[in-house]
Amino acid sequence: MNYDAALDMALQRLHDEGRYRVFIDVERRKGQYPQAVWTRPDGTEQEITIWCGNDYLGMGQHPAVLAAMHEALDATGAGSGGTRNISGTTVYHNQLEAELADLHGQDAALVFSSAYIANDATLSTLRKLFPGLIIYSDELNHASMIEGIKRFDGAKRIFRHNDVAHLRELLAADDPAAPKLIAFESIYSMDGDFAPIAEICDLAREFNALTYLDEVHAVGMYGPRGGGVAEREGLVDRIDIFNGTLGKAFGVFGGYIAASAKMCDAIRSYAPGFIFTTSLPPAVAAGAATAIALLKTDEGQKLRDTQQLYARILKMRLRGLGLPIDDRGSHIVPVHVGNPVHCKMLSDMLLEEFGIYVQPINFPTVPRGTERLRFTPSPVHDPKQIERLVQAMDALWSRCALNRAHAVA
Ligand SMILES: Cc1ncc(COP(=O)(O)O)c(C=O)c1O
Repeated sequence: MNYDAALDMALQRLHDEGRYRVFIDVERRKGQYPQAVWTRPDGTEQEITIWCGNDYLGMGQHPAVLAAMHEALDATGAGSGGTRNISGTTVYHNQLEAELADLHGQDAALVFSSAYIANDATLSTLRKLFPGLIIYSDELNHASMIEGIKRFDGAKRIFRHNDVAHLRELLAADDPAAPKLIAFESIYSMDGDFAPIAEICDLAREFNALTYLDEVHAVGMYGPRGGGVAEREGLVDRIDIFNGTLGKAFGVFGGYIAASAKMCDAIRSYAPGFIFTTSLPPAVAAGAATAIALLKTDEGQKLRDTQQLYARILKMRLRGLGLPIDDRGSHIVPVHVGNPVHCKMLSDMLLEEFGIYVQPINFPTVPRGTERLRFTPSPVHDPKQIERLVQAMDALWSRCALNRAHAVA
């Protein structure tokens, strides 16, 4: 085989479809987020405002988080030096897991290298614990759940997105005695819509199924202590396994599950993705634990309130311009473009002409024909930055002669 030619062809396919990914070189400056510096390919620099980050509450630069990380770094050094089993469990990891268990009202939690790994490792391991298990998965679940479920070598059923009637049909069609697990997300990050958690939990109870809820885009931001949408809706005790990230609203890095002590003990003991890898650096664990604790307080609630306020304002302003906003009531603000080339072009113009950075979201992250710009207002954006964004979108929409007055909701 001509390997070079095969690689050229694979890359050319992406260029032809307008979905070749270009990474933007962004340097955040501590304390100034969402302002950052973009280094162009020719080496010149431009100040930009980040509008697509998942440091949803600005915790990645919170002084208390940084202080905790500095302290742990100075106390213990850079890395943990081992897997959790072989010298890589420290007081920082234990504190972080206790903080997470408390956040979700569970007995225990397990920290992984990322939420991607936590999903993949946990879901793919469940068959070892529950022989004959059938997994029911929402069709729009994140790639990490899909990968875990693919690698889980048991029966799988895909239900239509948020469609509880379809889920019921699938559950009812299977052997009532078979062990079952329903895997879904509380907020789907590309549309910003919520799952019908209570109804799914009702079905789980009726069919004696376990529930697995990915709250990656909700932890820190929903619920009176940042425990996520299940906390906000009083459903914490109806979820068997929570999945979350430490890399978005908590502003640091890593992922986790929270569940009963026995469930965590079993996953800890059987999941290769937990066992055979170096544990998080202690400084990372310390920073994440501090962010979680802080977001449980009134200060956290103020950040949540401001984030929601800015998201509402941005949606209202863009809708006022007649742009196709999809408003599902969450903090995520998707503007539908529906064409990968236009989407990339708008993103490029925003960056180059206005210093506004929003990455185009194309296939396979979203289905073809639903390409979009996805804005993520945070409490550290300010009204002037919102105004600049609105004016830039207005100007570009006119210049590119794109349709208006097509607001989705
Ligand atoms: C729904 C969902 N689950 C899991 C993940 C993985 O999170 P992490 O970045 O911690 O790997 C993501 C990442 O964007 C996600 O959107």
